[in-house]
Amino acid sequence: MPVHVVADTVSKISDLRVTLERQYEVTSELLCGAGTRCGDSDAVIVTADLRVVENIVALKETFGKLAHVRKRIFLIDQKPRLFTVQAYALGATRVLITPVTQVRLLAQLADNIRSEANSNEALDGAREAAMAGAVAIASMFSAVLTGKPIDVRGAKGAGSRIADSIAEDGLSSWLETVRSHHEGTYQHCLLVTGIAVDFGLSLGLTKPDLERLYSAAMFHDIGKAKIPLAILDKPGQLDAGERALIETHPAAGYEVLRGNDAISAEILDAVRHHHEYLDGSGYPDALCAASISDIVRILTISDIFSALIEYRPYKPTMPREQAYEIIRSMQGKLEKPLIVAFRDVALNR
Ligand SMILES: [Fe+2]
Ligand SMILES: [Fe+2]
Repeated sequence: MPVHVVADTVSKISDLRVTLERQYEVTSELLCGAGTRCGDSDAVIVTADLRVVENIVALKETFGKLAHVRKRIFLIDQKPRLFTVQAYALGATRVLITPVTQVRLLAQLADNIRSEANSNEALDGAREAAMAGAVAIASMFSAVLTGKPIDVRGAKGAGSRIADSIAEDGLSSWLETVRSHHEGTYQHCLLVTGIAVDFGLSLGLTKPDLERLYSAAMFHDIGKAKIPLAILDKPGQLDAGERALIETHPAAGYEVLRGNDAISAEILDAVRHHHEYLDGSGYPDALCAASISDIVRILTISDIFSALIEYRPYKPTMPREQAYEIIRSMQGKLEKPLIVAFRDVALNR
């Protein structure tokens, strides 16, 4: 099981080789230097200073030739969130902040390679769509953090690939792929998009409506770029202050996208109102039934279900049956005929 190392200094390559060569066949290359061909690697480990523009440019180029390696672990020694987001935008599937213990690195690698061994065609299609989706979402977050323009077309294009993957290979392949290869907010946005697409397909939505739905899903949590990771990824209960901060994300997302010509009024509405409930108990505007559009109602159910079944390293993943029971218990807040229609998506597809 070969592993390829890409680093910006010779000493980083040497250090990683010492750790990895006990268990793996290792190839390596120096960023901006004469490279070694990586051959058929199962995983690539990247360690480079992402503050250096030349490293970013070189990584973009290097990843062109590593397109066939689907597991990409980035080791970065810069804590600020921007660098993590940048790593995902470059195509990382896992980002580990250094110092990383040898045990943790080897465990991540073994985990990645094991899941890679369960390969079949449906999962391969889902993996490619998930990678494109994760890169688009990470680029979007990076743009929000740096004040650069958001690549709306790129995000919609990635949403379209996800829709094709779901239509072709089904929801289960999508859930399995996204939950085993992506994490945090990227995992969540990818799951919501896939679930919303499958829900839309099961409801027989027209193609333009399906496009609106997956676009809204791709953008729905963009406001989370403004929330500190320590709160977003906090294991366990949030306190009242943290909860209040999290609840600012729909309005924050709306502000980020408002005025962008490529964002339609429906997407803006979905970003702002995907946490509203029919009984008026949601946020940020405490809307009630008549003011909540169909697309938002579909998105809200997909969003809640996704949050329930997400993979988190610190707790077991909730079975789909149990998650659907929670959705079913939310009658009054969610539309009853949609809850009934969602049963097939939640349990069978
Ligand atoms: Fe949200
Ligand atoms: Fe969400």
